[in-house]
Amino acid sequence: ISRKGSALVKEIHEKQSMNKSRQRFWELAGSKLGDILGVEKTAEQIDEDTAAVGEQGEVDFKEDAKFSKHLEKGEAVSDFAKSKTLAQQRQYLPIYSVRYELLQVIRENQVIVVVGETGSGKTTQLTQYLHEDGYTTNGIIGCTQPRRVAAMSVAKRVSEEMETELGNKVGYAIRFEDVTGPNTIIKYMTDGVLLRETLKDPDLDKYRVIVMDEAHERSLSTDVLFGILKNVVAQRRDFKLIVTSATLNAEKFSNFFGSVPIFYIPGRTFPVSILYSKTLCEDYVEATVKQAMTVHITSPPGDILIFMTGQDEIEATCHALADRMEQLISSTKKVVPKLSILPMYSQLPADLQAKIFQKAEDGARKCIVATNIAETSLTVDGILYVIDTGYGKMKIYNPKMGMDALQVFPISRAAADQRAGRAGRTGPGTCYRLYTESAYINEMLPSPVPEIQRTHLGNVVLLLKSLKIENLLDFDFMDPPPQDNILNSMYQLWVLGTLNNVGSLTALGWEMVEFPLDPPLAKMLLIGKQFKCIIEVLTIVSMLSVPSVFFRPKDRAEESDAAREKFFVPGSDHLTLLNIYRQWKANQYRGNWCNEHFLDVKGLRKAREVRSQLLDILHTLEIPLTSCEHDENTVRKAICSAYFYNAARLKGVGEYVNCRNGMPCHLHPSSALYGLGYTPDYVVYHELTLTTKEYMQCVTAVEPQWLAEFGPMFFSVKDSDMSLLQHKKRQEEEKTSMEEEMDDLRKLQTKAERES
Ligand code: CDP
Ligand code: MG
Repeated sequence: ISRKGSALVKEIHEKQSMNKSRQRFWELAGSKLGDILGVEKTAEQIDEDTAAVGEQGEVDFKEDAKFSKHLEKGEAVSDFAKSKTLAQQRQYLPIYSVRYELLQVIRENQVIVVVGETGSGKTTQLTQYLHEDGYTTNGIIGCTQPRRVAAMSVAKRVSEEMETELGNKVGYAIRFEDVTGPNTIIKYMTDGVLLRETLKDPDLDKYRVIVMDEAHERSLSTDVLFGILKNVVAQRRDFKLIVTSATLNAEKFSNFFGSVPIFYIPGRTFPVSILYSKTLCEDYVEATVKQAMTVHITSPPGDILIFMTGQDEIEATCHALADRMEQLISSTKKVVPKLSILPMYSQLPADLQAKIFQKAEDGARKCIVATNIAETSLTVDGILYVIDTGYGKMKIYNPKMGMDALQVFPISRAAADQRAGRAGRTGPGTCYRLYTESAYINEMLPSPVPEIQRTHLGNVVLLLKSLKIENLLDFDFMDPPPQDNILNSMYQLWVLGTLNNVGSLTALGWEMVEFPLDPPLAKMLLIGKQFKCIIEVLTIVSMLSVPSVFFRPKDRAEESDAAREKFFVPGSDHLTLLNIYRQWKANQYRGNWCNEHFLDVKGLRKAREVRSQLLDILHTLEIPLTSCEHDENTVRKAICSAYFYNAARLKGVGEYVNCRNGMPCHLHPSSALYGLGYTPDYVVYHELTLTTKEYMQCVTAVEPQWLAEFGPMFFSVKDSDMSLLQHKKRQEEEKTSMEEEMDDLRKLQTKAERES
């Protein structure tokens, strides 16, 4: 491809070849998804699908006179938006034309479903309408978002529209970050935050209305909230629930709440012509770059939106595009129109994210390269061209590895249509699909699989248990997760000592629920009590709760690697993180110090914030802050007690196998254990990520007897020679006996219920 991006793109190619066929994906994930979904379609189904699509060829065909007029005048709509005040812009949104009727329906019903195209004003306007209609006189309005970025950016926009400071009347809350105050009446938050709030306040008394936004995304927390909010609706007559959705699933949501009304916001979209790739595209990064350049050189003004799967690919694409532009400029004598290349993904710093909403300088064409975050959560005006790779990243629970993995996966037809629709918001657009029409019709699933059916449920089980929902199989799920997943997650919680033999929360479990952390991290923190090293594990857990703090610019890779090595604590990445935090503190938390040592100051500051919030919870629970100072073994033991589930045994140089299931896992070259001169026989790791190989992230060497001590259900010192097969058998036996116990309990319960 190009000089700059080539190494990255090469790595991506390797990844892509893994994802090429869906078949291979099922093998990789070793997942039961295929069975759950009935991936094998019947012939009739395919025919039906084909018929539906054959006639269309184009996505939705509705025009709006008001907008067309502006276009005829040659005024691009984004210019039009810029020339109007925010208040005027509000009145041009499709939802404005139905404001009165909508508020009427809300007054008359306790629950309604609102359906409207992306960009019609659901997220930014609904909350304001409710406020204007008096719903904030006795209570506040909450609006949930599946994505953190959306919660933040929308809250900012609404605070601007209401001419109030962010955090005052309008605020947002995401995990570890609460930008609300005593005056807040409109609160945007992630669905996870609201879910946690139900723990403290099951009736959600402070909320007068909850808008469950983007419900079609079917995120894990949204799905659990559905069941919980259904209860709140039954308990509180004064409470209103509004579920908003892109066209997908509206009926299903309405039925779940007892056939509640569905309110449709009239669409205002322009036709989008869809062009398919003629052949299977071998390399979608390369194909995308070519397509984008072609559009830029040959097509009339209008911005481009590209859908890629993740940060690495986005960066590679942006590099490649910049290179092509450079080449073009140096090889032609003519003036080349300007192209403003803008990446967009959730980990991107906020100031760079904001750029996608701004107008490009000197009339340049914007080219936004985004993850599926731009599918529905964010609306950018002025997009006329969409390039769709047909892939996206999805978190999938891989039972074989016993972990969630973010994997590249072909998108669904519904998602593909949603992506195409992005091109038709401000004028007639074009969508280039880098896959064949036959792949669209025959290979893509009709709609995405709800997260609840494809992820690990550890956290959800813990939450529901603490809400005193004893039998999870009876919980009112819209689409129940596979029973195996629930049992698997319960088993893991049992192993951690969170659930007892009859599936109820233990004392440790009750304490763990207080922390907004994944179960193993919460366990690591709390075990610090026993080992008298709370301060040390607190810092490690905080560092693990933020994205990597290492800064590794591509052009200074060696220098930054050398800087990182200076922090290494032999045998432990966890202790290395602790060391970094301690040194940062010793240097008065200075930003310059971070820059000198190739550390990301924002990441470290975030860790410090997380740490102070966790500290607050520890204070509330009256847990004494103990420290073991520099006794490394004690801290390593605490780590081991939380992560023995992720124990691995040395097999070759840098090569390990998971002790429980024999899955291969590798030391990452950036680990403190890499190039130690020796490699420890046993390690535990924080998580496994699947890129070119299965890499263990954040590794610590442990003693085998610790594994036997903390994980007696898996390991014992005596039979350390026991074959993997025997281990597995034993594990199965343990698991079956636990399931039997739980089964017995369930039977007893049912019997007791029947008798009463
Ligand atoms: O939720 P829905 O997709 O129906 O629409 P919305 O997010 O409320 O967006 C309504 C309008 O506000 C669109 O024209 C967006 O471009 C604009 N908006 C914005 O300019 N900046 C944001 N951060 C969010 C929305
Ligand atoms: Mg929205």
